[in-house]
Amino acid sequence: MTQKYIIANWKCNKTIAESLAWVDQVGPAINSEQYIVIVCPSFVSLSAVKDRIAAQGYKLKVGAQNVSQFESGAYTGEVSAAMLVDTVDYALVGHSERRTHFSETNDDVAKKAELCFKYSISPVVLVRDEKDSLPEQVKIFAWEPVFAIGTGNAVKAEDAEIEIAKLKGSRGIAGLYGGSVSVDNIKSFMDQPSIDGVLIGSASWTAETFVEMIHALH
Ligand code: PGA
Repeated sequence: MTQKYIIANWKCNKTIAESLAWVDQVGPAINSEQYIVIVCPSFVSLSAVKDRIAAQGYKLKVGAQNVSQFESGAYTGEVSAAMLVDTVDYALVGHSERRTHFSETNDDVAKKAELCFKYSISPVVLVRDEKDSLPEQVKIFAWEPVFAIGTGNAVKAEDAEIEIAKLKGSRGIAGLYGGSVSVDNIKSFMDQPSIDGVLIGSASWTAETFVEMIHALH
């Protein structure tokens, strides 16, 4: 059985206390070996979340929402892959919000992915369309069309299936769907043969809703 991914992207939300409250509500609800559930808090909450997961033995993985394209040095405000390696297994790279608000380019995405590999972090590269390139070694990507992000206008699961199969091509990589995934549509995406999981933004922020989504899969 191939495990499918469920990624919670909290974006710029949640204090440390709120992050831990979410983890304590969601953690006990994750008990299926069918899914790899990855939570992506802000940088400041990462350590606390990771420690709580370890202490309670929750079946959750931790991911960063971003990573610097620089390995180290005079880059005020940046967080490098080397700093993250003890805390995260995964890092989101190239989210459309980062490309739009922080001018991230395909070149930056390639550098970030490369540093992730160097430090044994799995990059999850986010692409909006065919113009956003997928670096060679990347093993997990998510297709997130801009019109579907945060709008409630999710792509139909059958259409996402076709697009993700096309983006994967003959490469043996995992392709996820992201964009207005909800309690009502999560199963339709997870049931598609070429879709290897979902990346959830706003619907992941409330622990109750996230747990409802997990239950909706059974
Ligand atoms: P959304 O966000 O689920 O709120 O559409 C998805 C994302 O931006 O990763």
